[in-house]
Amino acid sequence: MTKPKRTAKPTGSAADFIPTRPTLPKLRAASKGCRGCDLFKLGTQTVFGEGPASAHVMVVGEQPGDQEDKAGRPFVGPSGKLLDRAFDSAGIDRDDVYVTNAVKHFKWARDARTKRRIHKTPNVGEIRACHPWLEQEIALIRPRVIVCLGATAAKALLGRDFSVMKKRGVPVESEWAPAVVATVHPSAVLRAPPDQRALAERMFIADIRKVARVLEKTSTAERRGTSQRRKFSAWETSAPPSATSSASTRSSRE
Ligand code: URA
Ligand code: SF4
Repeated sequence: MTKPKRTAKPTGSAADFIPTRPTLPKLRAASKGCRGCDLFKLGTQTVFGEGPASAHVMVVGEQPGDQEDKAGRPFVGPSGKLLDRAFDSAGIDRDDVYVTNAVKHFKWARDARTKRRIHKTPNVGEIRACHPWLEQEIALIRPRVIVCLGATAAKALLGRDFSVMKKRGVPVESEWAPAVVATVHPSAVLRAPPDQRALAERMFIADIRKVARVLEKTSTAERRGTSQRRKFSAWETSAPPSATSSASTRSSRE
C-alpha cells in the first residue's frame, strides 16, 4: 500500500483500511495507505507500532514526534531514550515491549519564528479515527500490561474522563488487557523545569517499576480469561469483528 495523494479525501475511520485476516505485517503495510482522518496530509508517513509480537507489555504513546515522523518508527527520539532508560531500570527487557501510538501520523504546525515543526495535540475525532489500528495491534499482541503514556493514550483506552494525574501508576483492569497502567508522557518529564526534572524522572521510573511488578503477577491464564471478555466497545468504532476473532489464535502473529 502506498501513501495516498494529499488531494485524496479522508474517509473518517481507519477501519476502512484494515485488511481481512490481519497480521502485524499486513496491518503495517496497509497502514501506509491510511486516510482515515486529515492527518495523512500533514505527516511524512504513517508510523505504525514496532516490537515483537510476543511482547507482554504494550506501550501506547500519543503520536509520532518530529524524529519519528522522519524515521517512520515510533519512539526513536528523546522520549524514546527516556523510555529505554526507564524499562532498563525496571528490569523489563526491551524485547518484551511493543511500542505504538494512539494516533499514527505526526500532527504539527510550523512555528513562525523558529520555522520548526511544533507538535500539536490530536483531537478526539483524530484519536477515534485512528483507534481501529490500535485495536488490531492489541488483538494480535494480547499484552498482559498496557502502559498509556500521557492523557491522549489514557483517554483512547480508558475513556475521556480518565485522569492521569489522579490515577497515575495504578493498574486498571480493562477490556484491552488484564492491567492498564497510565503515567505521564516522557516528553512532560523532559520539559519539566530544571529544579523538578530529576524528581519527575524518578516518578516516571517508579511507575514503570510498577509495571514490572504487575507483569510478574499477571499469569498467562489470567490473560487468556480476560482476552475472552474483550468487547472492543470503548469508542464504539466500526472496527470489523475480525479484531476479536483474530485475538483467539496466536498463529497469525508475526
Ligand atoms: N512521543 C510519542 O507519543 N510517540 C512517539 O512515538 C514519540 C514521541
Ligand atoms: Fe489514518 Fe491514523 Fe493517520 Fe488518521 S492519523 S490518517 S486515522 S493512520
